Amino acid sequence: MPVDLDAANYALSGLRPFPVAVTTIEGGVANGLMSLSAGAASIVPEAPRATISLTKYNKTHDMVLSSGVFVMHLLAAAPEEALEESLEILMGLGGSSGRDGDKLTAFRTKPGVTGAPILLGAHSYVEARVVRSLDMDESTLFVGDVVAAERFSQDERLRVGEAWKRLPKEWIEQYDANHAPQLASARRYRGLPEDGPAH
Ligand SMILES: Cc1cc2nc3c(=O)[nH]c(=O)nc-3n(C[C@H](O)[C@H](O)[C@H](O)COP(=O)(O)O)c2cc1C
Repeated sequence: MPVDLDAANYALSGLRPFPVAVTTIEGGVANGLMSLSAGAASIVPEAPRATISLTKYNKTHDMVLSSGVFVMHLLAAAPEEALEESLEILMGLGGSSGRDGDKLTAFRTKPGVTGAPILLGAHSYVEARVVRSLDMDESTLFVGDVVAAERFSQDERLRVGEAWKRLPKEWIEQYDANHAPQLASARRYRGLPEDGPAH
């Protein structure tokens, strides 16, 4: 029986509502992206672990694979100035690739214990060293031991639905344009036609 793709994609959508800004450093070069794949990966409160799934198409993927370090930042939903800074981070890291130029010097940062940049405009973060990774063909799932963490804000964390309502139309168009080659690459890695299913 063929899979009901609408049902599958509905059931799987929105499971991780918090966008995270992921940063890393490799060979002295810092970079980062936005992700909706962040997860907690341990029930042991004194030894927290985090997971992140990065698409092989993205520069940050190769950098985390090679450096074994990442910082996962939650963004702030309030007050208004903090929300605006959150949207700047989301647009800055998620709208273009570090392959096309530096994305991080625009933001206030400090080096973390691994050397990876901490975004000072974030809500909170965990910094992690990769202890396991799983090759998922189109992407890699990284599991990291948390080696540092900080909370800068006592306000709510930004949810992606709220962010999409506030993002400018032009930025969303640019994001969609960047997403197309990423999707084609993922399909290639999975051995599927890169234009998608025939209609
Ligand atoms: C809300 C949002 C969620 C995203 N989720 C992911 C993700 O889970 N994994 C991933 O590899 N890219 C994700 N992306 C796409 C990357 O952030 C984007 O392709 C980025 O430009 C890659 O930059 P880089 O090539 O410098 O690594 C997401 C983007 C946005 C805006």
